[in-house]
Amino acid sequence: MVATFGHSHAQPNTITPAPLHSVWQERCLELSKPLNLYITATGEELKRLSSAAKATGLKLRGVSRPARSNALNLIIVEPTEMGLIANSEGIAEGYVMDITTKGVTIKATTYAGLYYGLQSLRQIYQKHNALRLGHISDAPRFEYRGILVDISRHFRTKEFLMRQIDAMAEVKMNRLHLHLTDAAGWRIEIEGYPRLTSFAAWRTPHTWKEWWYGERSYADEGSEGAYGGYLTKEEAREIVAYAADRYITVIPEIEMPGHSDEVLAAYPELRCTQQPERQGDLCIGKEATFEMMQSILDEIIEIFPSEYIHIGGDEATKTSWVECEDCQRRMCHEGLESVDELQSYMIHRIEEYLNTRGRQIIGWDEILEGGLAPNATVMSWRGEEGGRAAAAAGHNVVMSPHGYCYIDAPQDAPYSQPESIGGYLPLEKVYSYDPTPENMDEAVAEYILGVQANLWAEFIITDDHYEHMLWPRAIAIAEIGWSDPKHKDYTLFRERAIAIVDDMIERGYSPFDLKNEIGNRPESLTPVNHLAIGKPVSYLYPSHYYGPQYAAAGDKSLTDGLRGTWTYADNRWQGFLGRGGVDVVIDLEEVTHIESIEADFMQICGPGVFMPCRVEIWGSADGQNYTLLTDIEHEVVVDELPSFKTFGWRGSTEARYIRYKAHRSKYSGFLFVDEIIVR
Ligand code: ACM
Ligand code: ZN
Repeated sequence: MVATFGHSHAQPNTITPAPLHSVWQERCLELSKPLNLYITATGEELKRLSSAAKATGLKLRGVSRPARSNALNLIIVEPTEMGLIANSEGIAEGYVMDITTKGVTIKATTYAGLYYGLQSLRQIYQKHNALRLGHISDAPRFEYRGILVDISRHFRTKEFLMRQIDAMAEVKMNRLHLHLTDAAGWRIEIEGYPRLTSFAAWRTPHTWKEWWYGERSYADEGSEGAYGGYLTKEEAREIVAYAADRYITVIPEIEMPGHSDEVLAAYPELRCTQQPERQGDLCIGKEATFEMMQSILDEIIEIFPSEYIHIGGDEATKTSWVECEDCQRRMCHEGLESVDELQSYMIHRIEEYLNTRGRQIIGWDEILEGGLAPNATVMSWRGEEGGRAAAAAGHNVVMSPHGYCYIDAPQDAPYSQPESIGGYLPLEKVYSYDPTPENMDEAVAEYILGVQANLWAEFIITDDHYEHMLWPRAIAIAEIGWSDPKHKDYTLFRERAIAIVDDMIERGYSPFDLKNEIGNRPESLTPVNHLAIGKPVSYLYPSHYYGPQYAAAGDKSLTDGLRGTWTYADNRWQGFLGRGGVDVVIDLEEVTHIESIEADFMQICGPGVFMPCRVEIWGSADGQNYTLLTDIEHEVVVDELPSFKTFGWRGSTEARYIRYKAHRSKYSGFLFVDEIIVR
């Protein structure tokens, strides 16, 4: 009997990431008997691929030579036998799969390729409970498809990390960047420096927020209320092995010279002289810093076999170096002209050290400042500019720009989501990212290794919440990293992502439930038409002026018909930092009959964005004599979730000029307003 699908699709929308090339027939492979599983592999690889084959759910029995019928043959071949992808750059991880009446054959040039073929096979079989006859030739667009997991701000266990590795492997991701160290806690056992884990891995406030805005102190392991944790070397090795079984490389990150508050707390001898409190930069003047960091790295490379070691390099404040005698002496001896060059000196030295041990460094894009180390790879996070500059200079780059890849921002209407660092990054926006868009020079694009999602954990206390943030957005990164842009189609992707999410929920994961997505702020979806569209707005400069970072469309912004999204960083919300708040006059250019005037404000207390405490709205026919239409008092209440509120007037008046005045509350900070709507 030949099973068939209910209806025919030229290409079933089943495999994620979308494959490069696939053709399907109507008929299906007969599956009443177990398939004869043959793998060209021995030892470890045989074990890995056998378990991946078993995970497809197909009934299998092992055989010792390629099967001629009822086959599941996994065969290593020469590149010339790879057909359509024989010349593809991604051939090392590519695979060719044929499903015929005789069975399934997956060919690849590497074991990873066979593994990815099995992931596709698993997705097809699990969705359809059948295998349609067909052919797939598939290879990744990029060699680096990663996720950063931050286990410093809140510690995560080995078991948790392994669960994420499982989910990553299913969508053909291959790099897990572990953010092991940061101010909030050191998370990896280092035998030479035991206080890193007996002290710097623990604190008493559980939440990062209480800790960061409180004393920022550390606690002894086992002391009362000590909260935190770390991976033992043994656990870290188990994670590395578990990932390797799924063709995932774990890249450890050891932050330096910034983000090292916890190191300085445990080993204060690495502080600069005269170092101010609450400063997390290592002293680059002292040799002890190099002795310690190199000795830590010796232990790290012994645990993590990855080619890359991430050395951080981001957000050093560089302030203590200016005053420190040791740092100044170093700068003088080495002829360094600036603190940027001082940081660069350290990164160069660390690179040299790791290079002699057969490893490469990767660092955040700040390592460009003061001169990039000769062999360094750059992880571009502040945008894409750093990455483009590094690539143009012939350095490898991983793209992870904040606006698309920082999945610590909420993915849906903020009122429906747990407290977070703020912003709005829905799945569709992540999916829209292209690491090498058409306007990028080919010579630059050549150095872009791939793409990574970063999930920082300041506000993420529980494992469930962490998974909720990670999935499904990491799947969008997987697809950007793997699939050819010619297959980019958000509607089709979303359909597949919903299926994966539903499956994950069934298996006990806690992804964001994509099918119930609320979506962007409704007001932002279509322009609003009203009487003030395109009319001039005058501002009082500088006391009641918008900040340069949050100018949106400048003087046109409040009457351009464009309403803000869920985030103030969308170039639609205009941000007023001036002491006076908002005080603008709109000129309707003729006396007009008016029945309502209103404007929305947003509040998100974390970054200091508050509602106004009072709003006055005035009308005038001549621009001299104003009539007060309304004067609204508002009690500003500090809360955790972003909120939106309309302040307006309704009635009946004749006016040419409208003055809209919103006062800042005692919390000062920003006022953000998107449009003044006049009807
Ligand atoms: C970073 O987000 N500071 C790399
Ligand atoms: Zn110093």
